[in-house]
Amino acid sequence: MSKELVSKKPAAKIRMGIVGGGPDAFIGNIHRMAARLDGRIELVCGAFSRDPEKSRSAGQALYLPEQRCYPDYQTMMQREAELPAAERMEFVAIVTPNSTHYSIASSALAQGFHVLCEKPATLNLAEARALQQQVTETGLLFGLTHTYTGYPLVMEARERVARGDIGKVTKVVAEYTQGWLAAVMGGEDGKQAAWRLDPAQAGASCCMGDIGVHAANLAEFVSGQSIATLLADLQSLEAGRSLDDDGSVLLRFDQGARGVLFASQIAVGEENNLRIRVYGTKGGLDWQQQEPNSLWLKWPDRPAELIRAGQGYLGVNASNNSRTPPGHPEGYIEAFANLYSNFATAIADARGTEAPQSSTMNNVPGIDEAVKGMAFIEAVVASSAAGGQWTQLNCDVSR
Ligand SMILES: NC(=O)c1ccc[n+]([C@@H]2O[C@H](COP(=O)([O-])OP(=O)(O)OC[C@H]3O[C@@H](n4cnc5c(N)ncnc54)[C@H](O)[C@@H]3O)[C@@H](O)[C@H]2O)c1
Repeated sequence: MSKELVSKKPAAKIRMGIVGGGPDAFIGNIHRMAARLDGRIELVCGAFSRDPEKSRSAGQALYLPEQRCYPDYQTMMQREAELPAAERMEFVAIVTPNSTHYSIASSALAQGFHVLCEKPATLNLAEARALQQQVTETGLLFGLTHTYTGYPLVMEARERVARGDIGKVTKVVAEYTQGWLAAVMGGEDGKQAAWRLDPAQAGASCCMGDIGVHAANLAEFVSGQSIATLLADLQSLEAGRSLDDDGSVLLRFDQGARGVLFASQIAVGEENNLRIRVYGTKGGLDWQQQEPNSLWLKWPDRPAELIRAGQGYLGVNASNNSRTPPGHPEGYIEAFANLYSNFATAIADARGTEAPQSSTMNNVPGIDEAVKGMAFIEAVVASSAAGGQWTQLNCDVSR
């Protein structure tokens, strides 16, 4: 384990609750593995399902005491708040479908709990703004699990761009393709597909809300620039869908870069093909999620350079968020665990029992990214609905 992950050990484990992640859920179990990885966080309670019986049995399968397997999130917030401060949960992870994020996060903040929420942050931009106000008013922490910012080499890419290695950023290409929503690969079967294709549960977009927003966040995270305006062309290529399953977007960034973002969930045969390329006046870089331990740097006057995870030449962010030596691959769970670990550090600081740490929310997207993500989704949908018009993001992109 890296020096930083050890030195940031809190005085006592950080106590976590979870909403969602019941039987057959996708991301809830990933969150629990990530939270456990560094031994700094303990799951103490949960409301795992809308069905009280399923919630109880899911909690018991995780060895939680029966009284802390709650029938619903409202009961969980209330009962946890009544427990002694040293026992109650300190933060809640929200891993439910999009339409529920706002009410769960809002009720957690109202009871004094920090929030680590899945993306997209809310059902729409208005909810994200309301949450932003509540986060500001309460002074509590809000983290957003844009998983891919947790990869060491994504942090390395960001650091190298920020220090000018590739010069001034001029072009950003972000792509995210999956095939699982294509009829030939199983189409609408399964509950994950059902809610993602339902506007009442997913919001205004399926593909752009589910994965396009990750690509947008990654483009901004690595390039250091914010998307200011965009022109989008969305479609549902499988018949009978009311939300997009594919889309292409042109981007203009606030500091002058131009970009292209495309996302698809009907790209037959693709698994989880997220890739970011950033070009500047001196060079370029290229990172792919399915080969996360390699980062390519490209130069005009010499061969391309391969940067590898775990190596001693990496910068402070990549080093502090790595656990294994070179050639011992870390991946998706570890990237998620980095978000958890950095969030835990921020909570330890907020406990006031330890000396403040410098990197608190570093590399963990927060409430501003939540608002930007929802503004991105709404702009993409509006631009496409208007026949592909340049559309400004309805948020302060410079934040
Ligand atoms: N960061 C990532 O890479 C990533 C990956 C997948 C999903 N997600 C996001 O995670 C969220 C969940 O996605 P999923 O694929 O795991 O969905 P899922 O359908 O597999 O699981 C959702 C779970 O939430 C439970 N649930 C629903 N409403 C609830 C409520 N009111 N109270 C308690 N539990 C409730 C369901 O019973 C289920 O267990 C979505 O917002 C999605 O966009 C993020």
